[in-house]
Amino acid sequence: MNTNLSDYTNILIIGCGGAGLSSAIEAMQNNLSVKVLGKRLKNDAHTVLAAGGINASFGNLDNNDSWEQHFADTFLEGYEIGDPKAIELMAREAINCVNEIDSWGANFQKLKNGKFDQRFFGAHTYRRTCFCGDYTGKSILDALLKKASYLKMPIFDSEYVTDLLIEEDRCFGATSINLISGEKNVHLADATILCTGGHTRIWKRSSSRKYENNGDGLFLALKSGCKLIDMEMVQFHPTGMLYPEEMEGMLVTEAVRGEGGKLYNSRGERFMKNYDAERMELSTRDTIARANYLEIKEGRGTQRGGVILDISHIKKEKIIARLPTIYNQILEHQNIDISEEPFEVAPTAHYSMGGISVKAESHGTDIEGLFAAGEVAGGLHGANRLGGNSLAEILVFGKIAGCHASKYSKNLKIKSKPIKSIRTANENIDKKLVRGKNDPSCLQRELQKIMWEHCGVVKDKKNLEKGIFKIASLKNEALSLDTKIINNDYRKITDIFDLEASIIAAESTLKSALAREETRGAHNRSDFPQTNQKSLFNIEVKLENNKLELNKINCSIPDDNLIKIIKKTKEVKNFKGKLIE
Ligand code: FUM
Repeated sequence: MNTNLSDYTNILIIGCGGAGLSSAIEAMQNNLSVKVLGKRLKNDAHTVLAAGGINASFGNLDNNDSWEQHFADTFLEGYEIGDPKAIELMAREAINCVNEIDSWGANFQKLKNGKFDQRFFGAHTYRRTCFCGDYTGKSILDALLKKASYLKMPIFDSEYVTDLLIEEDRCFGATSINLISGEKNVHLADATILCTGGHTRIWKRSSSRKYENNGDGLFLALKSGCKLIDMEMVQFHPTGMLYPEEMEGMLVTEAVRGEGGKLYNSRGERFMKNYDAERMELSTRDTIARANYLEIKEGRGTQRGGVILDISHIKKEKIIARLPTIYNQILEHQNIDISEEPFEVAPTAHYSMGGISVKAESHGTDIEGLFAAGEVAGGLHGANRLGGNSLAEILVFGKIAGCHASKYSKNLKIKSKPIKSIRTANENIDKKLVRGKNDPSCLQRELQKIMWEHCGVVKDKKNLEKGIFKIASLKNEALSLDTKIINNDYRKITDIFDLEASIIAAESTLKSALAREETRGAHNRSDFPQTNQKSLFNIEVKLENNKLELNKINCSIPDDNLIKIIKKTKEVKNFKGKLIE
């Protein structure tokens, strides 16, 4: 296969979802050259699956809302281990970003007075979530693409990135394989931004699709010398579809509960009263996912292994106006009209709250010239992500990463062609293609089963250890694998790269989950059911001599000016955390 060496670009962006496009727009507005690489069609990036909305504290319906309250809700509901600086930036900047993306054509739902409509999402103090029906992510992505097209942004959406080019702890771009021609491409750049999503496709039931969220970006960063953080913090969304098989795990948006949906067990009990009597179906995601899991596990679920979600008490016109996607999705795949009948749901792996360790203010990593934004970056959400904060995250931090990568590029004095790194990256592709007799997909499926069984909604030491053991033997099997390319289907090569990445992502998650001996937010340990108020640490993971090393570091403390609102929110919400007394 040929290898093509590109000219130098100022900023290389890996990933063409919301975070990638936001950072690329910012860099272009700084008059720099950019190149965006994606591995699936640009109008079908994972962002399209973010359904229910984006948070910004306009206070259009609840006048008392403020960015400070958005900060306090996010910090406290993340069980106090999120990075306060990052949370502050998101809460402050979301307002500008929502205004901006609406002006670029996202076309959010408006009130009669022309202001944004806002809906309740779980555990927010006020109605704060701006939305376009239940297809907010798609509207945002379309608006970003419109802007990108206006700026004539070069987007290459059939490139699978295999390695970053590192020389003396600096990143100078990346190598990729073209999924259509099979050509190897070398992309040289002053600065590189990873916007590659998370790793929740490595669970058997996941709200992600094939070829996305297999942990590829995490692995690229880890093998380049970056650290990962909070890998044990994986969000299970309480409501995923149960059937048919090809739809298992697909998201049933929180907006269904935001619009009044109620959860029942098979005995007809509205069981959330036993888990969070005050907030019920609008409690935090970790609480509802755990409640759904326990109802099912303890025998009060449906025959298929789900619980029941009912919104049939809401008028059909309203359901169709505000939840059109989910209305059609359930009708098409289950032949159920949700305005007339309840339907079944169960927890699904949804979001990686952990990710690459970044500095909040710049989203720079430990490697110079390498930045990360969106789901691939860790630190913002702590132990539980509030619904609607992910779309805010991609816009706010995409822009921030784009801005700081631009500053870095403008100040950069050297332009290196890292020959050794390019050679190693090329060999890495070639060795995976030589023998051509195996198919990694069955190992990937095995890995998904292991993660579901051993690192699911509720975990314990024995089960996690078994999971680690199973992943280690799967890793041995994977070592002897290569890829069989049939009919020039180069997409197949991603299976083997994805498998390699997924194994490391799985190992990091299992080991971090074993190391955190307490229950905190999404991290449920049945053998340590209490939150230990002394465990205010984050777990960092790094790769040393091909082995993962874990390290506990103290959490950052919020600035004094935000302590007052944290204390007040604790009182109002009767929050049990004890960081700030
Ligand atoms: O339920 C949802 O619509 C998901 C939103 C989110 O993850 O932020």
